[in-house]
Parts: sequence; structure tokens; C-alpha cells
Amino acid sequence: MKKLAIIFGGMSTENKVSELSAKSILKNLDKEKYEIYPIYIDEKGEWYKYINEKKLEKIENIIKTIKKMDVVFPVLHGLYGEDGSIQGMLELFKIPYVGCKILSSSISMDKAYTKIIFEKAGLRQTKYEYIKKYQEKYIYVDKQFNEKILTLEEITKKIEKNLKYPMFIKPSNSGSSVGINKAKNIEQLKKYIQEAAKFDRKILIEEEIKGKEVECAVLGNENVIASVVGQIKSAEEFYSYNAKYKNQESKTEIPAKIPEEISKEIQKQAIKAFKAVDGKGLSRVDFFVEEKTNNIFINEINTMPGFTDISMYPKLCEASNISYKTLLNKIIELSQYKADINDT
Ligand SMILES: Nc1ncnc2c1ncn2[C@@H]1O[C@H](COP(=O)(O)OP(=O)(O)O)[C@@H](O)[C@H]1O
Ligand SMILES: [Mg+2]
Repeated sequence: MKKLAIIFGGMSTENKVSELSAKSILKNLDKEKYEIYPIYIDEKGEWYKYINEKKLEKIENIIKTIKKMDVVFPVLHGLYGEDGSIQGMLELFKIPYVGCKILSSSISMDKAYTKIIFEKAGLRQTKYEYIKKYQEKYIYVDKQFNEKILTLEEITKKIEKNLKYPMFIKPSNSGSSVGINKAKNIEQLKKYIQEAAKFDRKILIEEEIKGKEVECAVLGNENVIASVVGQIKSAEEFYSYNAKYKNQESKTEIPAKIPEEISKEIQKQAIKAFKAVDGKGLSRVDFFVEEKTNNIFINEINTMPGFTDISMYPKLCEASNISYKTLLNKIIELSQYKADINDT
């Protein structure tokens, strides 16, 4: 039997979300096939053997524990998990792991760099500006990476010239909508830039797309398949942290109520985006379909999407005739580390 470590929790704002994902995975894993080792990382970065909900045993020698494994499933969302860091550790030990490798994980975690790759791939995106916090000021970074140091006052005036309200202000490295706000005027723009700066030095400001928010699951290494497209129906003005995890009124609709040809195009673009970031294993690719035009705008790619049995990724797979259990077996089978050259 293969020794499989499920690493969850982690040092990001999504520690709790990861725990929920891991619990579903642990419940559904094929116990005949795998000898399962659940490992919990707390918010401070301490590692524990997870015995049960109430009992954790501190792991003294992390390297020794990890090296014993045949395969690792890092069910970690956000920084230090979905950003290439844990993937880097597993590469060093040559242990196959579920999901995207270092490069695709780190690009996809960073919204500014994701945009650069998507643009190269010719995928339509909303208009945006990229800035960085610098001491008490901000650095405006243009599309050729020329930098200019400005005050908050100056930089918001510049942004206003280039983008229309409402705008979304986001920490470049964010997840679960943490630190994301929608600004309708310059006062809010200023406030929300300062708010985003609490989470990341790098900040994005985007024009709003009015329309449907839709998602597509992709699965595979070289031979990638795309699921049916699902729709998010946020109970709040946008899909904030509260709307995602707290507000029971938020719903999903699978398949999304969009024309067949738009769905097909989204599936095509989802695979393209996944390949563009050099994705492996799985990802959930998120889009907007503009109300007036039906134009498709790509928003982001999540290399380790939520994985509870009611999360969008497994539900999209299920709607595409891949049950949760089959999905788990499949992504574990797709595991590899970078030096593996027998790609499938
Ligand atoms: N340009 C935009 N236009 C309209 N809504 C947006 C835009 N950007 C973000 N949103 C809303 O904010 C939510 C969170 O933004 P997103 O970029 O997906 O960050 P996260 O990585 O935290 O999920 C989205 O699900 C959507 O509801
Ligand atoms: Mg999102």
C-alpha cells in the first residue's frame, strides 16, 4: 500500500478552509489503496500528526516524516501552500505530490504575474493597474515594469485617469477574497489600497466586469479535460469572504445558464490558461461572462481549489461524471515531481 500524506491547515488566511477540505478528503479516500497520514500545520507553522479532531502530536523531525511518504497531497490554500513553497520542499525530497508544480503554483498565487501570462496567452481580461507599497508611498508599475514613486493622493489620481469606477482592489497574493474590496469613488479607492497593503506589498486595481461569475474545473497533466461550467450566485455585492463561507444565501448553479457556445469557449480557455501557467494535475479556472456582450473575461486560476464535497471543484467534476472518490484517485495517480519525465 502507498503511504499517502495529507498535509493541511497551513500558515495562510485560509487555514480553516483547508481543514474543511482535508476532512472531506480524509472521509472519502480509498483506505484499501492508501495508508493515510494526515498532517496538520498550524497558523504559526508548527507541524503535527493529526490523530483526530481533539488530538494532535507534534512532529519533531519533519524531514524524516516526509521522506517516508510515497506521495503527498498538499491540501493547502494560499501562501506557503498554494504558492510553490511546499511544492519546492517536496521536489527537494523527490516525493511525488498532487497538483501543480513550483512555477505554476507561484505564478497562479500571484495575481499580477498571472495577468502577465494570461495576456501572453491572448486571454481577455479586465483593465487593471499594478502598484506596490513602498514605505509611506506607493510605486506605480507600468506595463513595461517602469516604476514611479508616488503618494497615495497622486497614485489614486493616476489610476482614476486609466480605469472606470467601480474598481476592485486586491492584494496580489490573496485568496478567499481576503483584503479585497470594491471602490466606487476616490475616497474608497484610497482606503481600500491601504487595506490591501496590510496583506501584500503588491496590489492590483481592476475595472469591474458586470455579469455572471463562472468557473470551470480542469484535470490532467498533458491530456487535460475541462468540466461543465458552473455559476456562482453570490448573496452579496460580490463574492467576498463572508459571501463565500458565511452567507448561506450564496448558491452555485451547475451547469451555468449560459449559451452552449459560451460554455465550450470557456472550457477551451480554461485548458489554455492551465497550460499557459504550466499547470499539472488540477485547477479551477474562474471567469466572468459580461452581461451586455457575453464576452468572456478570465479572472484567475486556483491551483488548489476548495475541496469539501460541496466545493465547486468536486461538484463540477461530479457533474462531468467523475465522482468525488474517482477524482481523488485520479489526482493522486497524476502525482509527480518535476524530475519525473514519464508524463501522462
Ligand atoms: N474585476 C472584477 N469584476 C467584478 N467582480 C470582481 C472582479 N474582481 C473580483 N471580483 C469579485 O471579487 C471576488 C474575489 O476576487 P478574486 O480575484 O476571485 O480573488 P480570490 O483569489 O480571493 O478569490 C470574485 O469572486 C468576484 O466576486
Ligand atoms: Mg476567486
